Amino acid sequence: MDGSVRLDEVVMRFGDFTAIERTSLEIGSGEFFSFLGPSGCGKTTLLNIISGFLAPSEGQVFIGNEPMARRAVNRRPTAMIFQNLALFPLMTVFENIEFGLEVRGVEKRKRRDTSERLLALVALEGSGPKKVTELSGGQKQRVAIARALAVEPRVLLLDEPLSALDLKLRQRMRAELKAIQRKTGITFIYITHDQGEALTMSDRVAVMSAGRIQQVADPMTLYRAPATGFVAAFVGENNRFETTVVDREGERVRLDAGTLGELAGRAGEGVSLSNGKSVALFVRPEHLRPVTPDSPGPQLDTEIEAVHFEGAWVMLETRLLASGETLRVQLGHEISRHYADALSVGQRMGFGYDPQDAVVLPDDGSPVVDEATGEVREADRQARSHV
Ligand SMILES: Nc1ncnc2c1ncn2[C@@H]1O[C@H](COP(=O)(O)OP(=O)(O)O)[C@@H](O)[C@H]1O
Ligand SMILES: [Mg+2]
Repeated sequence: MDGSVRLDEVVMRFGDFTAIERTSLEIGSGEFFSFLGPSGCGKTTLLNIISGFLAPSEGQVFIGNEPMARRAVNRRPTAMIFQNLALFPLMTVFENIEFGLEVRGVEKRKRRDTSERLLALVALEGSGPKKVTELSGGQKQRVAIARALAVEPRVLLLDEPLSALDLKLRQRMRAELKAIQRKTGITFIYITHDQGEALTMSDRVAVMSAGRIQQVADPMTLYRAPATGFVAAFVGENNRFETTVVDREGERVRLDAGTLGELAGRAGEGVSLSNGKSVALFVRPEHLRPVTPDSPGPQLDTEIEAVHFEGAWVMLETRLLASGETLRVQLGHEISRHYADALSVGQRMGFGYDPQDAVVLPDDGSPVVDEATGEVREADRQARSHV
């Protein structure tokens, strides 16, 4: 059996609340695939449907082209790693890793060979006899991975496994997880609300919102060519403008941005844009650069409200003079050094961008991303669940 996973018209309802809207999807054998979305969008529910902890209300799951409907959790070729690892604290590392094998009646010598090999894979040689309580957070994480791999799953399901670790460790574990996935060739299905994790590790990412997959693509495509306003706002940072279409010539769209005057952008893939239609224009902070009033192209006049020096770049929070809205601008090291004298609170500055770098998408009431937590406020979620 290979490690491909197919969801065929899967729907999940809890009472009259639909947690997963009708979803069909194929994940390739050996792929590192992530589901990325805000808390509550249905990621864990989807993972539980794949593992067999939940039976879908409608539709089917196939693994290696075999239907899983009649297979219980422990008969599926999957293993799961949870956020809170669920290691046995009083047992040794060996005992933790070998637990699943012992349950399956694998003899002692063979169990020990397997756990020695897996400890080498996760760079914990010699730690077998240690108690779990003697290990650091990162080491526990690796034991959890070794334990999950011991039962030789075709598919490893990971439910926000790094979220309990501190930032440094989280970043190192990303590289390690990716390396382990490459070495084993096992399909990894990874769920997270952290876009950094999803973008750095995955071959492909499915971005989810409110029980619905918004886009499935490789990380670069998600970033460069978001398919919906949700993806544009959730993946990376974006300034969003509400505009109406003036006219369109090929990809290039001229837009009426009200008090901000005329702006321009590139039509999102497959987006239909009739003249006069309400659309959203997305301009990333790193695509903005200082311009003078006589520069050609879009012009956004601002007053600087805050300057955050980040080392390799400077992040500016500015206020648009014409509308009072916030515009976030990221300037690289060279350019910010050039403009050093002008980059202070209260200074006025005009910014422009190449319309090729700005995407025009349907105005779908894109999410409000909380600046402090990076979480999306899904205000419409409750309302939707009661219709
Ligand atoms: N057993 C359940 N009964 C009722 N509602 C549930 C149940 N499990 C999950 N939900 C709801 O389904 C939605 C998705 O939950 P979940 O899959 O845990 O989201 P995520 O993992 O993306 O944070 C949430 O609104 C949650 O409250
Ligand atoms: Mg979850």
